[in-house]
Amino acid sequence: MNKFNDVRYKMLNSDSHLPIRSHHINYLRRSNFVILFFGFALGFFFAILMEFSPSTMTFKSNDAFTFKHSDPHFGRELNDASGPTADVGFHEPYDNTHKYENGTVASQLYKDVRVLCWIMTNPKNHKKKAIHVKKTWGKRCNKLLFMSSTVDPELESVALPVKEGRNNLWAKTKEAFKYIYDHHLDEIDWVLKADDDTYVVVENLRYMLYPYASSQPIYFGCRFKPYVKQGYMSGGAGYVLSKQALIRFVEEGLTDKTKCRQDADGAEDVEIGKCLENVHVLAGDSRDSHGRGRFFPFVPEHHLIPGHVDKNFWYYKYIYYEAKEGMDCCSDNAISFHYVSPNQMYVLEYLIYHLRPYGLVQFDQPLPKKISLSEISEEAHKNATNLNESNTNDNEKL
Ligand SMILES: *[C@@H]1O[C@H](CO)[C@@H](O)[C@H](O)[C@H]1NC(C)=O
Ligand SMILES: *[C@@H]1O[C@H](CO)[C@@H](O)[C@H](O)[C@H]1NC(C)=O
Ligand SMILES: *[C@@H]1O[C@H](CO)[C@@H](O)[C@H](O)[C@H]1NC(C)=O
Repeated sequence: MNKFNDVRYKMLNSDSHLPIRSHHINYLRRSNFVILFFGFALGFFFAILMEFSPSTMTFKSNDAFTFKHSDPHFGRELNDASGPTADVGFHEPYDNTHKYENGTVASQLYKDVRVLCWIMTNPKNHKKKAIHVKKTWGKRCNKLLFMSSTVDPELESVALPVKEGRNNLWAKTKEAFKYIYDHHLDEIDWVLKADDDTYVVVENLRYMLYPYASSQPIYFGCRFKPYVKQGYMSGGAGYVLSKQALIRFVEEGLTDKTKCRQDADGAEDVEIGKCLENVHVLAGDSRDSHGRGRFFPFVPEHHLIPGHVDKNFWYYKYIYYEAKEGMDCCSDNAISFHYVSPNQMYVLEYLIYHLRPYGLVQFDQPLPKKISLSEISEEAHKNATNLNESNTNDNEKL
């Protein structure tokens, strides 16, 4: 794996319609300027080549960045992925395992931890992607909204007053949160933003949020470390704001140019990260008690298979906490995965909600203790110090 391939890969990534955002390049440029210069020339050349070979989204080389549709790393790879056109149907409640399931706790959390999910989509993706979110995990949110620029009766999408395109994602994000603040504030405790290729296990989201109060100014997601002192949350993995965080964002942030970027442009996830820090919203730690992550910016395969991507891949430089590989990567109560194709949404749906090994019975799990704001701040301080130490080690390894 040579560094030129690495850079070339990043250049190609910058062309995606949603995440693998161009700010990934800016951050890396600082640390690797000379290599980037040569890489730019090479990357440009390959980018042009790619334009003339639309059917090959993986390119023939022996480097580690030869990806396939089963493990996409940029939005363009999913452009030609299609979902089922026929009705997939559902399992009846009298199916074998479901009659032995006890959903009492999940039902209780549905009432106690009310989550509004909003999906970033656009008219081109309504039928291709967004509809499959609605038919799979989206139905488990207390309220589901598709944020677009046109109304689609099947999706019941919201037509926000924004232009489409990558340069308007930040504008759309601001409008979406403002719309929710204006129309749904009383119905919710938490607001989750996800893309139309994100898959979310909503029960696990409620379980992670349960110890916190929605009156605490906090938000969670897959935490990245550049650009913002306390880090920011990956846009593709999805992030969730407490009601208090939403209120501060809209009331204190949106109209104050010293706190939040006022124009349409900018990387949506970085901009909201900066803005939330400026209005004193904490970046929370969403890992489980084993330190395993719960929000993921790629599909499970990416995180599960060791050595599957090179350590120079931007993700390892961005991730705030140590990124473990293999079975230890991911919490048993994982919440989200990104770059999930429409078909894969149904695969995950089946694996998570239906397939059960016979004879393994789950007992009720105890709910975690509630946590106070001062406890969160102390923990966060401790964790920040630990991070500093573990970072030094990581840099030596690279
Ligand atoms: C289901 O779980 C609830 C909550 O723990 C418990 O009170 C109830 O007895 C359980 N129901 C069955 C049928 O086991
Ligand atoms: C700090 O880290 C521990 C595990 O190392 C985790 O359980 C806890 O939630 C973290 N807290 C914060 C606020 O970052
Ligand atoms: C972080 O590490 C640097 C040295 O690598 C040290 O000077 C600094 O005091 C550390 N900060 C914290 C908060 O531990």
